[in-house]
Amino acid sequence: MEKNNNHYYSKFPDANVKIHTISESLRRHLYIFKTITGVFSFNKLDLGTKVFIENMYIPIESKVLLDLGCGYGSIGIVLSYESPQSSVYLIDINKRAIWCTRENVRLNLQKRKKSIHILSGNYFKPLKNKNLKFDGIFMNPPLRQGRKEFLKLMLEIPGYLNTNGSFQFVIKKKMGADYVLKYFKDTFPDENIEILCKRSGYWVFKCFH
Ligand SMILES: C[S@@+](CC[C@H](N)C(=O)[O-])C[C@H]1O[C@@H](n2cnc3c(N)ncnc32)[C@H](O)[C@@H]1O
Repeated sequence: MEKNNNHYYSKFPDANVKIHTISESLRRHLYIFKTITGVFSFNKLDLGTKVFIENMYIPIESKVLLDLGCGYGSIGIVLSYESPQSSVYLIDINKRAIWCTRENVRLNLQKRKKSIHILSGNYFKPLKNKNLKFDGIFMNPPLRQGRKEFLKLMLEIPGYLNTNGSFQFVIKKKMGADYVLKYFKDTFPDENIEILCKRSGYWVFKCFH
């Protein structure tokens, strides 16, 4: 049991509840996001998230996509808007984030709710017994606790990707983007990794494709 629930990756954050509304133009479309204290970057869209959304590769054909650690849902909602034939899964451990994601799907994707699946829990655990694999997994990873958990998670990713599926993620240069790149190349010498962009101190990666 966690002693301190005062951070965004808690299951039940205990910050006082205050609801915010963010409007943001992403890939030339205006989105409205409801956010709440205790959720990652609740007062404005994180710069890393913005760089990622603007530069991630989105397949337009019908695919199965996952926003892992979705926060209030910005990445997955943009994926669904831009790739309307796809099924999009969004997972987060933080219950407030899940509440925001449900609200934001309702606000931004009224007609697409059937192709959106919002799940609460620890990374891939909510998919247990679902026998699901993805054509794309997208992530702005939580690195506040350090890189170790993310590097461990990366080992699990190939098991959840379809053939030709890819994992895309964003990392701040200062948080060790070059270290992660080296780790990937050492750990998966036969796999592809490319940098889709380097912008405003953030690196966007696409790998396992
Ligand atoms: C850096 S934030 C990114 C949030 C959102 N994707 C965005 O870009 O605004 C990382 C997210 O991962 C979630 N997270 C942390 N540990 C998790 C875990 N074990 N399982 C699922 N989600 C987790 C956090 O609650 C947080 O919402």
